[in-house]
Amino acid sequence: MSLQQGSVATQRPTYRGMQLVTVEEYRRFTAVREVVTIGTVPVRVGRPWRVKDYGPPEDYKIEESTVWSFPSRGEWATHSGNYRGNWSPFIPRNLINKYTRPGELVLDEMCGSGTTLVECKLLGRNGIGVDVNPDAVMIQRDRLNFDYHPLDSQNGTNVRTYVGDARNLDLVRDDCVDLVATHPPYAGIISYTGHRVDADLSRLKLPDYLAAMRVVAAEAYRVLKPDHYCAVLIGDTRKARHYIPISIGVLQSFLSVGFTLKEDIIKLQHKMMMTRQKWRGRNYDFYKIAHEHLYIFRKPTGDEDLGRVKYSRKWW
Ligand SMILES: C[S@@+](CC[C@H](N)C(=O)[O-])C[C@H]1O[C@@H](n2cnc3c(N)ncnc32)[C@H](O)[C@@H]1O
Repeated sequence: MSLQQGSVATQRPTYRGMQLVTVEEYRRFTAVREVVTIGTVPVRVGRPWRVKDYGPPEDYKIEESTVWSFPSRGEWATHSGNYRGNWSPFIPRNLINKYTRPGELVLDEMCGSGTTLVECKLLGRNGIGVDVNPDAVMIQRDRLNFDYHPLDSQNGTNVRTYVGDARNLDLVRDDCVDLVATHPPYAGIISYTGHRVDADLSRLKLPDYLAAMRVVAAEAYRVLKPDHYCAVLIGDTRKARHYIPISIGVLQSFLSVGFTLKEDIIKLQHKMMMTRQKWRGRNYDFYKIAHEHLYIFRKPTGDEDLGRVKYSRKWW
């Protein structure tokens, strides 16, 4: 499947729509289930959280350059590294603080364990989380299941969770989201649902995965407000001792639907041996992949002079 700009709209309705998962459904679920399994990793749900810290350590500083590194991934509130491939909460925290104001709306349409949503709750933003895996959405509800009443808060935030496919955000209106911040599967490097969920993008081979990412990009573009930002974290892999630049394909997918590239942030990886490659001995003739790309795309406004940014768009 190869999608060009313009053919995307007719593709969208073939993917499953969004289905709200409420707190009541989470309570019913955890009344009978204590554990869900993501890939091969069991994750406990339903136990009360004892939150010690509601924010990062005191030495936390906002990022100012295009290289980000978090040797300690961040464990405040209900954040935990036990969801395979989840992103450090420092990433959505930086994005939310830089690109939104309190009360605005953040979307993570491949939301996994809900790291982005927990940061929305802590930072007073409204959130929409979507994941194709119903068990992941239960983990999201679990991570959101803590009390938080900051003194300066005027209104509670509204954080909604949905089972759905990032290629069809049918319950989200055009031009209404203030920030998209998402972290797709890196093609098939980690299998999130095995063979249980057809629409899981981690099941796809690279060409089909990139075609699907173009539809994901088109949906993100549709729902984002003009002159607002869409952040996507993506990494690469290696096969037959050669480099496979998944990130370049994803970059092209987002540029091809009309986004401009605002930033290409290199995020250093600290546990790459565990998550990305199996190393047999020390005799390898290549470097360990130790970075990911955090692309920040901008949706142009209808009337802006795109000539100024022509080489930050799809020019080829
Ligand atoms: C890298 S993980 C996201 C982790 C997340 N940032 C966190 O901190 O927990 C990618 C997620 O994409 C989900 N996914 C795969 N295909 C999807 C699709 N078509 N629509 C929505 N989510 C999908 C997987 O179930 C997985 O939870």
